[in-house]
Amino acid sequence: MNKLIILFMVLGLIYGGVASTTPQERVSPEAIPDAVQGGTAMFNGDQPLNMQELGHRHVPIRQSQSPGMGFGDIPQEDQMIWQDYFQKRFPKVPKADFINGVYAIDPVSRANWEAIEEFPPYEMAVSNGEEMWNTPFANGKGYRDCFPDGPAVADKYPYWGRERGQVVTLPLAINECRAANGEGALKYKKGPIADILSYIQFMSRGQLTKIEIPADDPRALAAYEQGKHFYFARRGQLNFSCAHCHALNAGNLLRSELLSPALGHTTHFPIYRSKWGEMGTLHRRFFSCNKQVRAKPFKAQGEKYRNLEYFLTYMQNGLPLNGPGARK
Ligand code: HEC
Repeated sequence: MNKLIILFMVLGLIYGGVASTTPQERVSPEAIPDAVQGGTAMFNGDQPLNMQELGHRHVPIRQSQSPGMGFGDIPQEDQMIWQDYFQKRFPKVPKADFINGVYAIDPVSRANWEAIEEFPPYEMAVSNGEEMWNTPFANGKGYRDCFPDGPAVADKYPYWGRERGQVVTLPLAINECRAANGEGALKYKKGPIADILSYIQFMSRGQLTKIEIPADDPRALAAYEQGKHFYFARRGQLNFSCAHCHALNAGNLLRSELLSPALGHTTHFPIYRSKWGEMGTLHRRFFSCNKQVRAKPFKAQGEKYRNLEYFLTYMQNGLPLNGPGARK
C-alpha cells in the first residue's frame, strides 16, 4: 500500500499530471494549484488546534485553506456553501443521490454496485445486529431500555451532549448503554459494533439528517470548528487535507480509484467494504483515509474523530440516511 503511494508520487512527477489515460484527471501533489498551497501555521499540517487560540468562536476557513470553496461566517453558511459547491461541481447528480458516494458520479461502477445490492453483503450484519438488539444483557435489561425510541434512532446522532460537554455519537451511546448494564465495551472499528450499528441504521433508513449545533452552548460550536479545521488541515507525507481529495479532487482518479464527493459521506455507515472483506465503521474509514496519506491515524471514537463526524454530518443536513452500505 505504502509502496503504491510512492509509485503514484513518482509517476505523478514523471507525467506531471498531463499524461492521463482516462477522461478523469489524475491527482498528484503537483496537481494542487498554488492558490491552495497557502494557509497559516495554525491550521497547516498536523498541528493540533489550540482551543485558546480558537477562543470558542467561529473561525472562517479562508479561501487559501478550502480548495475552491470560501467558507462562511456561521455553520449554517458553511453548510449552504458546501452543499452548493458539490451541486455545482456535479450538476447532473440529484441532491439526494450524493448519499451513494462514488456511485452517484460513476455510471460504470454504479451498475456493478446495484447488482451487489440485490444480495447485500451487509445482510448478515443486519441480522446479527437484530439478534443483539433482542437478546437481553446478563442483568435482564437490553438495548431498548437505553434507546426507548429504538431501534430507528440513527437520525438523533451525533448530537451535542451538553451535560458531558462532548459530541455523542451512536457507537459511543451503545457502549455507554453496555457499561451502564455491566456489559463490556465493544471495539469501535469492526465486529459486533458494526452489527448492532447495521441493524439500527437499517431500521432508520429514510430518516433525514438533522444535526444541530446548539447556539446557546459555545462548546458545541467549538467542537464543530475543530471538526471543520481537521477536515481542511494538510497532513501526512502527501500533505493532503481531506478536502484536497474529497472536494477539490472529487471526481478525479487517485491511482485507480475515483474520489467520491464529500457531500453525503456519513449517511450509509457502517459499510461492507470489499477491500476489507468485512464490515467497518465510519471511524475505521477515517482511520484508513488518514493512513492513506501516511499520516498518523487517530483513535476511533476519540474526540478528534467525533468532532470530525459532527462537522461532516452537519454538512449533509437534509440528506436521507441509507446505511448500512456496500463499497469497493
Ligand atoms: C489521498 C486522498 C484521500 C484523502 C486525503 C482522504 N481520503 Fe477519504 N477516501 C479516499 C479514497 C480513494 C476513498 C475510496 C473511494 C471513495 O469513496 O472516494 C475514500 C473514501 C472515503 C469515505 C467513504 C466514502 C463512501 O462513500 O463510503 C469517507 C467517509 C472518507 N473517505 C473520508 C475522509 C476524511 C474524513 C478524510 C480526512 C481525514 C479523507 N477521507 C481523506 C481518498 C482520500
